[in-house]
Amino acid sequence: MRTTARRIWLLLATVASLGISPALAADADHGADLARRWCAGCHLVSSSQTQASADVPSFASVARKPDFSPEKLAFFLLDPHPKMPNFPLSRTEAADIAAYIASLRK
Ligand code: HEC
Repeated sequence: MRTTARRIWLLLATVASLGISPALAADADHGADLARRWCAGCHLVSSSQTQASADVPSFASVARKPDFSPEKLAFFLLDPHPKMPNFPLSRTEAADIAAYIASLRK
């Protein structure tokens, strides 16, 4: 029992220290702005966008993946993928973009 409680505590402490409060605090509208500014060159970031790079996943398809979660995505964005230029995304910005992508899930 004690170890379980300790693990939960550690997990909470880690989440808190990263400043990513799960989805609640994130601002999807701000995330949409950021996505249009920084990601639209390669990704289809919204359904109104008609052109992007051919072999780059659209944000809608990212959102529909079965294992999608805004928390995981926000973590992913703090460590950009190799083919992506290194964006200086703050934790808040990463969470906002993740919240925006999560909003495409419907
Ligand atoms: C220079 C082009 C480029 C830009 C700009 C770019 N990406 Fe990407 N992104 C890619 C490519 C290419 C992939 C495919 C994965 C790979 O091969 O690394 C990808 C993959 C991803 C994935 C993973 C998709 C999956 O397969 O699950 C996410 C999430 C993502 N990008 C988010 C973003 C976000 C958010 C931004 C803006 C902050 C962004 N990308 C900007 C090129 C880009």
